[in-house]
Amino acid sequence: MPLTAGGDVVRLAALADIHYSKSSQGSLQPLFNQIAESADVLVLCGDLTDYGLAEEARVLAKDLAPIKIPMVGVLGNHDFESSQERDISQILTDVGVHMLDGDTWEFRGVGFAGVRGFCGGFGRGALGPWGEKIIKDFVHEAVQEALKLESALARLKADHRIVLMHYAPIRATVEGESPEIFPFLGSSRLEDPISRFDVTAVFHGHAHKGAPEGKTQTGIPVYNVAHSVLRASYPDRPPFRLFEVHTASPQDQTVTPIGDRRQWGRRSTDRGDERQNAGGSNPS
Ligand SMILES: [Fe+2]
Ligand SMILES: [Fe+2]
Repeated sequence: MPLTAGGDVVRLAALADIHYSKSSQGSLQPLFNQIAESADVLVLCGDLTDYGLAEEARVLAKDLAPIKIPMVGVLGNHDFESSQERDISQILTDVGVHMLDGDTWEFRGVGFAGVRGFCGGFGRGALGPWGEKIIKDFVHEAVQEALKLESALARLKADHRIVLMHYAPIRATVEGESPEIFPFLGSSRLEDPISRFDVTAVFHGHAHKGAPEGKTQTGIPVYNVAHSVLRASYPDRPPFRLFEVHTASPQDQTVTPIGDRRQWGRRSTDRGDERQNAGGSNPS
């Protein structure tokens, strides 16, 4: 008996930093099966491969292929390591993952906007575009990612807007890492579009020893769903996080983390409903 019968709740399972290697075949298959039983959508927030190899993506694609719920994802920095990021995206797209890079995807009243993001630090400590060209180029990358996110959010028509990225947009969810590396874990430049478009929730990874939850300055919830963070923070649960988006009312912008395994039940829709309702990716 589904806990949330009816079409007014969308359940999201979020996960990042699975770092699939050539020898990972089958390693997360049981977890993916569990996700498919509990959620309506799987959200993957980057570092899907370990060395950024197409071969690693093929291993992951094999494990994701049997998962019959819609999937949406972004790449992380590891997925760029071998300059095979385009192949990785294509391989995952071929098994049904909506890969977003400044793109949008909508599903049953929930809009998704995704970018990889970039680093540069947070708040007053953020690196500024001053001095050497290489510093300006570095800062420019974070600004470009923020602009990509802004234009994706501007295109979303859904009342409920979910952002997925790899890097952290706020400092709170990297707390726990060594402060010396905070500037390499994210950029508060990514926070601006999130606040301006009144996003419902943000999911990211990358900070493997960070904190699982934080909020933007405007109170928008931000969740670090890195695999290792979830293992450390919730040792009694499978390492993914489950959330409910309440789509019945445009005003209801809450996203509810489902923490207690007894609450999980089954996902709110069956496979047929999902196929009917799933939108296409919007690369425009
Ligand atoms: Fe990672
Ligand atoms: Fe990363």
